[in-house]
Amino acid sequence: MSDHVLGVVMNGVTGRMGYRQHLVRSVLAINEQGGVTLPDGGRVRLRPVLVGRNAAKLAELADRHGVADHTTDLDAALADPANTIYFDAQVTQARVAATLKAIAAGKHVYTEKPTAESVTEAIRLAQAAEDAGVRNGVVQDKLFLPGLLKLKRLIDGGFFGQILSVRGEFGYWVFEGDWQAAQRPSWNYRSEDGGGIVLDMFPHWAYVLENLFGPVVSVYAQVSTHIPERWDESGQRYKATADDAAYGVFELAGGVIAQINSSWAVRVNRDELVEFQVDGTHGSAVAGLRGCRVQHRSATPKPVWNPDVPATARFRDGWQEVPDNAEFDNGFKVQWEQFIRHVVAGTPFPYTLRSGARGVQIAELGLRSHAEGRRLPVTGL
Ligand SMILES: NC(=O)c1ccc[n+]([C@@H]2O[C@H](COP(=O)([O-])OP(=O)(O)OC[C@H]3O[C@@H](n4cnc5c(N)ncnc54)[C@H](O)[C@@H]3O)[C@@H](O)[C@H]2O)c1
Repeated sequence: MSDHVLGVVMNGVTGRMGYRQHLVRSVLAINEQGGVTLPDGGRVRLRPVLVGRNAAKLAELADRHGVADHTTDLDAALADPANTIYFDAQVTQARVAATLKAIAAGKHVYTEKPTAESVTEAIRLAQAAEDAGVRNGVVQDKLFLPGLLKLKRLIDGGFFGQILSVRGEFGYWVFEGDWQAAQRPSWNYRSEDGGGIVLDMFPHWAYVLENLFGPVVSVYAQVSTHIPERWDESGQRYKATADDAAYGVFELAGGVIAQINSSWAVRVNRDELVEFQVDGTHGSAVAGLRGCRVQHRSATPKPVWNPDVPATARFRDGWQEVPDNAEFDNGFKVQWEQFIRHVVAGTPFPYTLRSGARGVQIAELGLRSHAEGRRLPVTGL
């Protein structure tokens, strides 16, 4: 049995994702539960080293959570041999340079998505990690959501028969920032700062589709900037140069057609902020972040089109909730635990920077498809 303490350099912890999902709900939560359990029964505890640009903010965070180490000097943190892992949740634009430095310093690397702004850079990053022989990974949190785990269970159990199509609806209204503060950072709405909903969400859809239904073989997208100007964190008006909505059609190997709307300019009339409807010959399901409902072919009503009479059937009542049948832990933490086991014990970890590059490729093809007004094939990376 082996016990370890790993130094984890965490860059971007003052941000939304870095702070809440990765520092508090993953790394600190792992330590609170006594560490990550290894296959041999040993345990790994993590020693976070908070890295960022603002010393005062880092000191405040460290103090609030009893974290001993923080610095604005990334190079110094990477030079310390006790720091084994580099984690990056910075703005996307800052990711590649910092992660390449960590790879050059021999660190294992784990990053938020998208791994880069362009497929060229994403491949460069994956290649650098592979050449250096360091363990590497990208956050693919949606796979660990209870709703999608239930969907995966239905697929594995053969519930759907032949799967025909997937319809995804993602989005909510992001306030413009004038009369109510925006609930997302302003860089998300500037393409020159790495923003845009395609670059943000298509990498998620790429791994969700690939892992559940099959890899994407072609992409068609219509993209829009519905809200042309917004107000930033300091109340300044700015031009929204990045896309805030994308209407995508993805053809999957095996013939499944997936159609996913992503929008920050839509009001929610759904049970959850993202929902996927999957239709198969034997049954259908609607999965959200947490819930999943099904309708088997034996319980499928037979609607007859007649607009002359009011609808009496309550269609949504004819669906059945899929039970949890398991405890679902926080998906970000579960993936961290898998990555730590991968680093220390060499257990498999399919969510590599190479798979992250496939996500960036799907985003890039989505934007190009829109610009060229045509469907584009996905060629192997
Ligand atoms: N997995 C998910 O579901 C998910 C959700 C949201 C965002 N993300 C990704 O996480 C990353 C961070 O997003 P966020 O929403 O936390 O952003 P954020 O703006 O809240 O945080 C960005 C962090 O990067 C730091 N930073 C470093 N260099 C910077 C620079 N030049 N300009 C501005 N900030 C800089 C900031 O200080 C901050 O700590 C992005 O790559 C984003 O795509 C992932």
